[in-house]
Amino acid sequence: MAGFERGSDSEISGVLEFLPCRTPALWFEQAPAHLPELLIDHANCEKKAAGTALSLLYRYVDRSHLLQTLSRLAREELRHFEQVHGMLAAHDIDYRHISASRYVSGLRQCVRNNEPDRLVDTLLTGAVVEARSCERFLGLIDVLPRDLGDFYRRLLDSEARHFRQYLSLAERYAQAPFDDKLSEILARDAVLVTDEDVVFRFHSGPLAQNTRAGSAPRVL
Ligand SMILES: [Fe+2]
Ligand SMILES: [Fe+2]
Repeated sequence: MAGFERGSDSEISGVLEFLPCRTPALWFEQAPAHLPELLIDHANCEKKAAGTALSLLYRYVDRSHLLQTLSRLAREELRHFEQVHGMLAAHDIDYRHISASRYVSGLRQCVRNNEPDRLVDTLLTGAVVEARSCERFLGLIDVLPRDLGDFYRRLLDSEARHFRQYLSLAERYAQAPFDDKLSEILARDAVLVTDEDVVFRFHSGPLAQNTRAGSAPRVL
């Protein structure tokens, strides 16, 4: 993809190799016509990413490496939120409430309730979300207006780094091999990002034919 050469390098290729599939081309084709949903949901995702990291800081106070890593990560996600919020203003888009996509809640169904599995599964889910976000940023570079494309290029490295950090935290705290669980989460990711969706969101699948703009009211 052209944006890859203009973005990062081996970090990004590591993300792409990790993911089970690429986002369907149709989702990228639909993105420019759904800028409000895309940017508003992206702003929400950045807040949610900070919130997830913060919730882990509260839950695992005895894991000092996790505390240090995720505290920094949460601050960075909030900075991203501020930046996306600025992009909303720059494009005259009102920030308002919209429904969450099915993606993160769908992935979290893979998280077990018992410890330390709960921690490891949550960290693996975080790695998958960060990797998928990075892959979407990469693809958006070429399809959005120039200022937004440049913005998404600047975010590539941090999301690739967050992906690595979540994965290495999972490796650090796992007490048993997690290959099967990671495969399960990745398989869920593949379904959620490729199946047709009823709303356009940052992590949605492509909009179904009968819900595309022009053929049905846009769902916000
Ligand atoms: Fe972020
Ligand atoms: Fe991130």
